[in-house]
Amino acid sequence: MRKKVDFLVIGSGIAGLSFALKVADKGKVCVVTKDKVDETATKYAQGGIAAVMYPPDTHEKHIKDTLIAGDDLCNEEIVRITITESTDRVKELIDWGTEFDKEASGKFELAKEGGHSEFRVLHHKDSTGAEIVRALINKAKNHPNIEILENHFAIDILSQHHLGVGVSRGTPGIKCYGAYILHPESGEVLTILSKITLLATGGTGTVYNTTTNPDIATGDGVAMAFRAKAIIENMEFVQFHPTSLYNPKERPSFLITEALRGFGAILKTRKEKEFMQKYDPRGSLAPRDIVARSIDTEMKLSGDEHLYLDARHLNKHDLIEHFPTVYAKCLTVGIDITKDMIPVVPAAHYSCGGVKVDKFARTSIENLYASGECASTGLHGANRLASNSLLESAVFSHRAAMDAIEKFSKVDYMDEIPDWNAEGMVLNEEMILILQSKRELQSIMSSYVGIVRSDLRLTRALDRLEIIYKETEDLYKKSIINIDLCELRNLINVGYLIIKMAHLRKESRGLHYSIDYPDKTSIKLNSRK
Ligand code: FAD
Ligand code: SIN
Repeated sequence: MRKKVDFLVIGSGIAGLSFALKVADKGKVCVVTKDKVDETATKYAQGGIAAVMYPPDTHEKHIKDTLIAGDDLCNEEIVRITITESTDRVKELIDWGTEFDKEASGKFELAKEGGHSEFRVLHHKDSTGAEIVRALINKAKNHPNIEILENHFAIDILSQHHLGVGVSRGTPGIKCYGAYILHPESGEVLTILSKITLLATGGTGTVYNTTTNPDIATGDGVAMAFRAKAIIENMEFVQFHPTSLYNPKERPSFLITEALRGFGAILKTRKEKEFMQKYDPRGSLAPRDIVARSIDTEMKLSGDEHLYLDARHLNKHDLIEHFPTVYAKCLTVGIDITKDMIPVVPAAHYSCGGVKVDKFARTSIENLYASGECASTGLHGANRLASNSLLESAVFSHRAAMDAIEKFSKVDYMDEIPDWNAEGMVLNEEMILILQSKRELQSIMSSYVGIVRSDLRLTRALDRLEIIYKETEDLYKKSIINIDLCELRNLINVGYLIIKMAHLRKESRGLHYSIDYPDKTSIKLNSRK
């Protein structure tokens, strides 16, 4: 089946839906999402969205905090754009129906997280993402120009490659004409031709054993763009959240929001000793890269499998009032956070890198935009400041929409794109092999490409990945397509990009720490300044 739309949006998180809502007044929009419309990382966001709302906060303070967290690798122009536009984008979310918590005075109640010098995080208790998603989905479902295709999986974006024309990475003139979309129930692959395509496919956490990300976070957008020869950058900067609930049987790992540390909870050892001051004067509220690395070091020194977050000294009523989700979840595993210390361990949480975009979220491929976690705008540099990612998604989906609205009427559909060809493909009866390869990949990435890296570990990782890569490509070429196989292929691409880029960075900076190069160099690889 073929379909034509003005705007194809791949992904239904904050990046996808906020873009869709903006362009829908101008043309026909199709949002495809591989799961239910609300199954996104956005839904699980707890802490909130950072924005400058009231004095004593200022844009300059938020800019400075972002630059410091990014360890001298942020693109300062992008940081300035994002933060000066933060208040407008937050007001828009509110206009669309999002409710952020307020004080009795009517002012927004602002929280603080690691690396922030002021209270500036707007939130809805500790379930901010679910509230944003509720408002966005409600708005999008009621827009006559937006069609949402749930349980539809984007396999690849369409470009000259599908017309038999070879292209090389990053060369000007590569164009995007839409995407092949798999409807797994019918097995049919749709050809959706679009004038403008937005990748809003979210993160990559599934490439690791332990992650806070939902299962949908398989880096599909990054992998699709990579295969289409777009420029990808900064993939070595994988952010590990310092505090996920230690509960080894559970996947994804439940996040214990950093806002709890902003509220006064303190990281401690099994012997109830504070340790963060040893590593950073900001203690439990130092930027995430520092806290996660310190926890990793403490665990290695003590041999313990986790550390603790202590909230027992905080006012019980306020604690439950502000963190009902964390409180309820911990009770289900026998931990009362008002009486017990919470066992915590770092978990892969956020990909700072992704598809390289400019200040209007344009990728290096014409008519292809990327926003949200799959994009690399230059905002985060080597380490993202907490609660800056929902903000980044809102800002760059807005900018993408403004640019795309200007452009789309001048773009023609590429009718010559052939339909998906499944001739000669056979049903793969060894589905279990796909699952085993996925587990192998997650184990490679967690063992060799985690918080602390070395050249030897990275080489081992690449050698082992090569085997799974060859086996999977072989399978892909002859099998009738299915989601598990496509996701595995994408995860392998993502793993490859993380390892390769980590190998190229001969220094330790932000989230990338190598025991072979413990210092920063004066040369900033991939610097976007
Ligand atoms: P997502 O919200 O993940 O949406 C991705 C969408 O793409 C989904 O609809 C998915 O189905 C779809 N998709 C993916 N691949 C395909 C494909 N091949 N075909 C079709 N559809 C596809 N950030 C903050 O700023 N503040 C916070 O408090 C915060 N808390 C967080 C808590 C948790 C537990 C997690 C995991 C993340 C948190 N983050 C937070 C990070 C933030 O939530 C994400 O970076 C952000 O929501 C990403 O939004 P997105 O729209 O880019 O992607
Ligand atoms: C959290 O609530 O700790 C997550 C915030 C973020 O990832 O930005």
